[in-house]
Amino acid sequence: MEFSGTNNSYFITFSSFFILFVAFATILNPIFALKSCEFPAIFNFGDSNSDTGAMPAAFIPPNPPYGETYFHMPAGRYSDGRLIIDFITKSLNHPYMSAYLDSMGTNFSRGANFAAAGSTIRIPFSIIPHGISSPFSLDVQFLQFLQFKLKSQMIRKQGGVFAKLMPKEEYFPKALYTFDIGQNDIGDGLLSNLTIEEVIASVPDIVNRFSANIENIYDLGARTFWIHNTGPIGCLPYILANFPAEKDDAGCAKPYNEVAQFFNAKLNESIIQLRKNFPSAAFIYVDVYSVKYSLFSSPKKHGFELPLIACCGYGGMYNFNDSAGCGEKIIVNGSEVVVGSCDRPSVRVNWDGIHYTEAANKFVFDQISTGAFSHPPIPLNMSCML
Ligand SMILES: *[C@@H]1O[C@H](CO)[C@@H](O)[C@H](O)[C@H]1NC(C)=O
Ligand SMILES: *[C@@H]1O[C@H](CO)[C@@H](O)[C@H](O)[C@H]1NC(C)=O
Ligand SMILES: *[C@@H]1O[C@H](CO)[C@@H](O)[C@H](O)[C@H]1NC(C)=O
Ligand SMILES: *[C@@H]1O[C@H](CO)[C@@H](O)[C@H](O)[C@H]1NC(C)=O
Ligand SMILES: *[C@@H]1O[C@H](CO)[C@@H](O)[C@H](O)[C@H]1NC(C)=O
Ligand SMILES: *[C@@H]1O[C@H](CO)[C@@H](O)[C@H](O)[C@H]1NC(C)=O
Repeated sequence: MEFSGTNNSYFITFSSFFILFVAFATILNPIFALKSCEFPAIFNFGDSNSDTGAMPAAFIPPNPPYGETYFHMPAGRYSDGRLIIDFITKSLNHPYMSAYLDSMGTNFSRGANFAAAGSTIRIPFSIIPHGISSPFSLDVQFLQFLQFKLKSQMIRKQGGVFAKLMPKEEYFPKALYTFDIGQNDIGDGLLSNLTIEEVIASVPDIVNRFSANIENIYDLGARTFWIHNTGPIGCLPYILANFPAEKDDAGCAKPYNEVAQFFNAKLNESIIQLRKNFPSAAFIYVDVYSVKYSLFSSPKKHGFELPLIACCGYGGMYNFNDSAGCGEKIIVNGSEVVVGSCDRPSVRVNWDGIHYTEAANKFVFDQISTGAFSHPPIPLNMSCML
């Protein structure tokens, strides 16, 4: 025996003290990578802010001029071009992500995107086509991920043409897991005639569902979580045109932004709790709200104009009307016209009344990828744990 009884218990005491110390130090000061992380795969969950083709595959794709700026055709995205998630994948030298629901020509070797436009965290009030929300709420996106993880490995074992299109098993714990969801829990609540007070009262439950899904994904081996908070919904034309409200200095609807801020505060709290519960994982809270809001409060400073006016839309103060959506055909003065794009989407913030332009998405990515808006303040490319 190397240790006498006394030394041994001393060793045990010391080692448990050491483990406690490390655990404590990790909570206070998580140990992040010192150099660029190698994320072999990316898995994304969310709504239209990061949908790269799910809803268009499941239902009806958007019409031109969606996609005009970058892909030069509607490319499964609700924007004139790329989304924040596209800039994230590009900066990490990944290909643009395939939507899990897209059955045509998809390549999942570097991950999969479960985000679907119109998705909520909670089970939605009503589902399209009769209602307004996507059927692919976060619980469903988790179930799809569970399926994906099991089935992709079966397909790899079978070999053949499809094996190479699936991620390797060891990619799952090393992958980056990104989230951008919650906006529709607020927006769809309002469109379903909940009062602001009722939406606020539902926020703790919404955030609990979010955490529960994060835990489920953690249980499947995920360790790096990059979580966007929700944007200033009260600055979006679809809210401004539908819900008259008190405006702030930027012209945004104050009470609706306060709901988003309340959601974000609760989200932040729940992420602090997740860090305590799972000290071996990295949970990065990314304050997308502040970056997006700066586009409305000081557009000129950042090279933008008319941030509250939809680029592609028709009618009213905000160039937005639910019954004349971007790319739809409408009758004006007796003749049919297609609701088209503004002249310079590259200096505009809002694309279609709900979604941001490629230019705005790139601006947001450039700001958040440095870590300046994250808690803890870690750049995207160093956000994995050692
Ligand atoms: C799938 O994507 C990977 C990673 O980008 C790439 O190396 C591979 O060639 C792609 N496979 C096909 C069949 O396109
Ligand atoms: C909300 O109220 C409007 C106006 O009263 C009504 O047209 C609409 O059907 C209601 N929506 C829901 C989901 O109850
Ligand atoms: C989130 O919580 C952290 C830690 O308590 C705090 O430093 C930070 O300011 C919070 N961020 C937001 C946006 O509430
Ligand atoms: C939207 O368009 C419809 C039909 O042209 C019109 O009746 C309605 O007043 C418009 N709504 C707004 C908010 O401008
Ligand atoms: C429709 O006709 C009115 C009256 O002639 C005119 O003022 C308006 O500019 C026309 N609208 C469009 C989109 O051509
Ligand atoms: C990591 O990101 C930072 C900040 O966004 C950037 O300056 C740096 O060049 C990146 N490093 C690598 C290796 O890509």
